[in-house]
Amino acid sequence: MGKITQALRKIQEEKEKKSKIQKTIEDSNVVKDNFVKKEKEEEDFPFSRGKEYSLKNKAFLVSKKDISGIDSRIITYYDPSSPLSEQYRILRTNLKSILRKIKATRRNIKSSNFASVFTISSSLHNEGKTITAVNLAMSLASETETRVLLIDGDLRNGLIHKLLNIEAEPGLSTILINDYEWTVGLHPTRKENLFVIPRGEISPISSELLSSRKMHIILEKLREENFNYIIIDTPPLLSFADAQLVTQFTDGIIIVVEANHTKAEVVKKAKELCEQANNKILGFILTKVDYYAPDFYYYYYNYKNYKKDV
Ligand SMILES: Nc1ncnc2c1ncn2[C@@H]1O[C@H](COP(=O)(O)OP(=O)(O)OP(=O)(O)O)[C@@H](O)[C@H]1O
Ligand SMILES: [Mg+2]
Repeated sequence: MGKITQALRKIQEEKEKKSKIQKTIEDSNVVKDNFVKKEKEEEDFPFSRGKEYSLKNKAFLVSKKDISGIDSRIITYYDPSSPLSEQYRILRTNLKSILRKIKATRRNIKSSNFASVFTISSSLHNEGKTITAVNLAMSLASETETRVLLIDGDLRNGLIHKLLNIEAEPGLSTILINDYEWTVGLHPTRKENLFVIPRGEISPISSELLSSRKMHIILEKLREENFNYIIIDTPPLLSFADAQLVTQFTDGIIIVVEANHTKAEVVKKAKELCEQANNKILGFILTKVDYYAPDFYYYYYNYKNYKKDV
């Protein structure tokens, strides 16, 4: 049985266990807040394989029920037919075509079936890397039989767990620091076929961890698992070496550029850094484009009409 299948079975068992506990709580009219504080001690993490991992606050007994808790900016989850989601679909199509070409250049037939792995970064802070990474991952996972793994490689300030309303730990730093199996950090999401390895605990030795032999080995193992795409969100290129270092182990990097903000020479500098490190640039994504520009309205208007006709 594959590791993912095994992990999924564990998740299902865990879910059933939690819903039983939830029912007991409701039956006995116990105040939920008291239970949130309760700690389940010495319990192995469900994905743990051989190694034990006990997570203190793992008794997430209060479920969100009908509210997913996913951030409203993840438009590809909430409104897949919106013009913005359509932009992500266009991006997905272009990216798939680039990755397919890269796969075709892989030397042996076996590795040509392995997952495509790429990083997302930008020159500076706050350009929209993480929102782009999550929306793109969601969009890729929407395709039939497409399994996507999103890794939070921003061990300094990663926020993917918040956007997807999952726990930050155990995550990437947990695996790297403690030498655990990657399955320890795997979290399912509300979106079927989208899995996340969140950042774990914030680490002051982020660059060392991301460039470690262990990181390389994990990515090589993950490539052979049942994922089609593995996306790694990273800190900005001009501030830290993290993105450059981890990209070495991948098929390439996508550079996010904030429209009407990031100067051309800054983007050029980031591009040069990637080239110096022999990291393949898969493309650039423009974010924070003015949605209220007339062109956008025209597009949106026609899109709505088109939808009505269908
Ligand atoms: N495509 C977009 N259009 C408009 N606003 C956006 C877009 N993407 C992100 N933003 C906004 O920009 C801000 C930063 O987004 P995000 O956290 O994704 O950036 P980041 O590059 O990952 O930042 P950091 O460098 O801190 O990791 C957020 O307030 C977000 O709402
Ligand atoms: Mg970010």
